[in-house]
Parts: sequence; structure tokens; C-alpha cells
Amino acid sequence: MKHLYLIGDPVAHSLSPAMHNAAFQALGLDWHYEALQTTTAQLPDVVARLRASDCVGANVTVPHKETIISFLDALTDRAQRAAAVNTVVRQNGRLVGDNTDGEGFLQMLRRANVDARGAQVLILGAGGAARGVAFALAELPVARLAIVNRTPERAEKLAHDMHAHFPRLGIEVGPDRADIIVNATSVGMSPRENESPVSGEFPRDAVAIDLVYRPLHTRFLRDAERVGARTVDGLPMLVYQGAAAFALWTRRAAPIDVMREVAYAAISNGG
Ligand code: ATR
Repeated sequence: MKHLYLIGDPVAHSLSPAMHNAAFQALGLDWHYEALQTTTAQLPDVVARLRASDCVGANVTVPHKETIISFLDALTDRAQRAAAVNTVVRQNGRLVGDNTDGEGFLQMLRRANVDARGAQVLILGAGGAARGVAFALAELPVARLAIVNRTPERAEKLAHDMHAHFPRLGIEVGPDRADIIVNATSVGMSPRENESPVSGEFPRDAVAIDLVYRPLHTRFLRDAERVGARTVDGLPMLVYQGAAAFALWTRRAAPIDVMREVAYAAISNGG
């Protein structure tokens, strides 16, 4: 049997093990995906486990997406640009860090029929998830990107890093008129379900996209629905970033329908 791990803290409530194990089973693979609760002090030992010959790779989540980089052997271009790793692939004995958040985000937009090309996009947050999303959107390209974050220095750092790669794209730190507003913060996540990253009325002409999926109907999305705005919840993004990681590990197309069904069933059952 081959092994894959989810490295993070906390990981107990993650939907990824159920999603990936169902997908491996659907393709007849004798592979097993397991969440490993990992503190920062344990990170070097856990990464060493990934070097075992029966290990295919891993996913990485909060708070290790950036710190894991120094323990890996190589990064893909997109992981390097995002300065964050959410997927590790063991290739010829080397641990390669990749980032499927941006690819998952763009796939989610396509499936939801949200055309971000030429749009003005406001990203709330400047952490690992926001960075992956921002670089993917810049590549489309969008017309303008605005980034707002609780800690302004982090938004400025992201805008600065993006400007180095996309010198002609308008990137602003601070709110702007927006066609699409993406919540890439953890505000609204259970158990603080009554919080929203947007104060005041949601602009009715904008599309609201939340990366939070627990709960599925966040305060941010409920406020947007109330004024008649379009909304996209966080589960498709979870499924598509997972599907992209699955394809990297297996070199086969992910059974997306299986993954989506398992994720929705788990979340609907309070999982
Ligand atoms: P991830 O990898 O999921 O992006 P992260 O790097 O820890 O995780 O980023 C979390 C994001 O949510 C950050 O933008 C964070 O803002 P700070 O950079 O100021 O920390 C944002 N965030 C978390 N809790 C928040 C809160 N209560 N209010 C506003 N923003 C918050």
C-alpha cells in the first residue's frame, strides 16, 4: 500500500482524507491518505516520513504552507511565485513542493461560469490562499487587482511580489470598485460563523466567492445573497485544488464527481 499525508494543525476536521480515499478507491488504487496533526516542532520529522519509499506525497495546510519550503528539495515555478506549498510530490526520491490553489481557483471559476478575464477583482486576505489566488488571477489576466488585509504590510508585500512578475497589471492595496470579491481570509469560519470580512452592504453587482467552506453558507455569502448578488461557496475550490493534487500524485485524471459528492456529504452531515 502507498501512503499520502495531510500535514497541518489543526487537521482533525479536514475533508481531504475522505475525499482522496474515495477517489483512490474509485480508481482501484491501494493507496491511503491520512491526516497527520503536526506542530511546527514536529515538522522536520514528519517531512522525513515523506521520504519513505512507500510514500507518494502530501498536502500541506495551515500553518505550514510557507515553513515547509525549507525542508523540501525543489519547488515548481508556481509554488515559488506563491511562496507557499499545498502539495508535495515525491519524484525520484526528491520532495518537490507545488501549489494547486491557483489552478483549483481558476477551475472553480470556469465551472461556476464566472468570467474573471478583464474583471476588477478584490481579494480579502494576504495569506497563503490569497497569494495562490492572486497569482492565478494575474495570469488570466484580470483588469485590476485590489488586495485588502487586516495586516496591511502583508498586503503590500503581496502587491510588491506580484508587481515584480506582472509589471503591467494594476495592483492596488486597499478597497476598490469590484466585479468579483474573494474572501481568502478565515473570517466567518466555524465557530465564528457570524463574522464577515465585509462591513456594510455587499455591492449587489459583484460576485461573492468564499474560500471558507465550513459553514457552507457563510455570513459573507448570506449578506451577498440578501442584496441579490451571485455567490460561490468554498467547496468547489476545495474539490478542484484536491483534484489537481490527485492528478499530480497519480498522473491520472481525478474522479471529480466522486470527490465532490464525498465532500458535500461530509459537510452536510456536519463532518
Ligand atoms: P491561509 O493559508 O489559509 O491563507 P494564513 O496564511 O494564516 O492562512 O492567512 C489567513 C488570512 O486571514 C490572513 O490574511 C489573515 O490576516 P492577517 O494577515 O492580518 O493575519 C486573515 N485573518 C485571519 N483572522 C482574521 C480576522 N479575525 N480578521 C481579519 N482577517 C483575518
